[in-house]
Amino acid sequence: ARVAVLLSGTGSLCAALLAATERPGYPAEVVVVGSDRVADGLEHARRRGIPTFTCALADHADRSAWDRALADALARYEPDLVVSAGFMKLVGPAVLAAFGGRLVNTHPALLPAFPGAHAVRDALAAGVTVTGATVHLIDAGLDTGPVIAQREVPVRPGDDEATLHERIKDVERELLVETVAQLVTPDSTRKTSR
Ligand code: GRF
Repeated sequence: ARVAVLLSGTGSLCAALLAATERPGYPAEVVVVGSDRVADGLEHARRRGIPTFTCALADHADRSAWDRALADALARYEPDLVVSAGFMKLVGPAVLAAFGGRLVNTHPALLPAFPGAHAVRDALAAGVTVTGATVHLIDAGLDTGPVIAQREVPVRPGDDEATLHERIKDVERELLVETVAQLVTPDSTRKTSR
């Protein structure tokens, strides 16, 4: 299956997915990696000769023009699945119309808890002892789409945002790799992630 990845930052989740796709038998290939800004994460694709694009809001007249440009950029690669892995923008109606239902996001919390761009900091501030990672379908809201898979991550005494986020990202990487494989495998006996 053809997978497109969207990112905004370091792309460690994207890197994990790229590594997984190089394993024999993994049922997906990454056909393009896109970003909304200059992002180090694009390097993981470039190094492998995988096409990349940058679709920056500032390069377009307004948000709906940006949304249409992003939908067009993705459509060029005919992805079966679009994965947002650290993509820090809300996609709009054009992207949702083109890829809704096969557009997923990974979030570093157990949604619906702690949506938004500061999930790890918010979980620490709330004093929870267990948080986690979520892969969900993207809808028009902010981290509000139907949950596909979740996995718990313990908060340890002395954690700060960086140590907790890294522990969560370890789980996000494995959950994302597993969930992408399941989503692209038409297997009715698909087991759901705990
Ligand atoms: C991940 O925790 C993702 O859920 C969040 O931002 C982080 C991206 O990490 N939206 P990276 O850029 O893949 O290292």
